[in-house]
Amino acid sequence: MENTHDFRSPAINLIGVGALKDLPLELMPYKLSKALIVTDKNIIRLGYVEIVEKILKDLFISYDIFDGILHPDCTISFVEDALTYFKKNLNILKKDYHFIISVGGGTNHDCAKGIAIVATNGGDIEDYEGYEKMTKPSLPVITINTTSGSGAEVSNVAIIKDESRKVKMTIADPKMMPIISVNDLRFMPSMPPEITASSGLDVLTHSIEGFVSTEASPVTDSLAIDAVKLVFGYLRRAYKNGNDLEAREKMMFANVMGGMVLNNAGLGYVHSMSHQLGGFYEEVHGSCNAILLPHVLEYNAVSIPEERILKISEAVGAKANNKQEAINKINHSIQNLSEDIGIPTHLSSIGINENDLELLSKNAEKDINSLVNPRKGTFVDIMNIFKAAM
Ligand SMILES: [Fe+2]
Repeated sequence: MENTHDFRSPAINLIGVGALKDLPLELMPYKLSKALIVTDKNIIRLGYVEIVEKILKDLFISYDIFDGILHPDCTISFVEDALTYFKKNLNILKKDYHFIISVGGGTNHDCAKGIAIVATNGGDIEDYEGYEKMTKPSLPVITINTTSGSGAEVSNVAIIKDESRKVKMTIADPKMMPIISVNDLRFMPSMPPEITASSGLDVLTHSIEGFVSTEASPVTDSLAIDAVKLVFGYLRRAYKNGNDLEAREKMMFANVMGGMVLNNAGLGYVHSMSHQLGGFYEEVHGSCNAILLPHVLEYNAVSIPEERILKISEAVGAKANNKQEAINKINHSIQNLSEDIGIPTHLSSIGINENDLELLSKNAEKDINSLVNPRKGTFVDIMNIFKAAM
């Protein structure tokens, strides 16, 4: 029986305290001479872009900076603004920019990927919604990450919000995999507590959803279980004290591992559903995930082998003797963790309107992540999960 698992990640992943210092050596063989830096004003203010600029100058690489990412969640308008900037400064068809460097969190990486896709493939970013819609490789992208959450720096997935439809598009294609990712701990302590909390719970959701996905493999399983252990071991500490560098470092590794899990095992209903909440209400992604995760796990449990549920239970630090006991303990542990780091545990408390649930559920059913959810349901099932989470 044919049963294959591709494993894709950037060819080079520089991780650790001071990891950015190795970037010049890795960049040199590519012989790139002009870069577009994609970032936001806050990252510039923190001085991170200046560090990247110095590296480029030392390598005699010329560059421009697009800092028009104005809020969390990459939107079509940000990608279009960047492409306008592109065209104003150069002839895009001549590929004047050889590569794109994104500096920031998942929003900036997703925007950079969106720009890189359209730069070589043409058309509009909406044309690439779904899986493998690109015909040509994107411009090379280098991701310099400053948060521990989205995993976008190591994935070939971009989440881009279509404001006119109020949905978050998922664009997935190996042809836009970043060539180099950098996770340097020196860029992480500036993350505020609320972002540390929500993005840490996003890491947890990537790991648990990926572990029970229909595309999970022993490779992603190992990454997922260890990432869950790291989140439960260190997220509270990173939240309480942003300068706890040991906790920050562990969360940085958990983020990379969770990102590799989501890219190779896929996710599931939690992300299908939270993408709708983010698209419709602009809710914080990680917080929505944390609220939904226990309810989706409860729904999925019937389709997940007992030994896998027991493994998750062990990883969250709550051993159990059977499937239902394990589900109860996992869900209790997730909700405890959320409460400890100031994340709500009910959708009603973040202003979700019950009248919208039918539309949200229909859109969630169509989200690409639903394809790998372990239990196949209908939009009515999804609506019931939303209701349970209210
Ligand atoms: Fe996520």
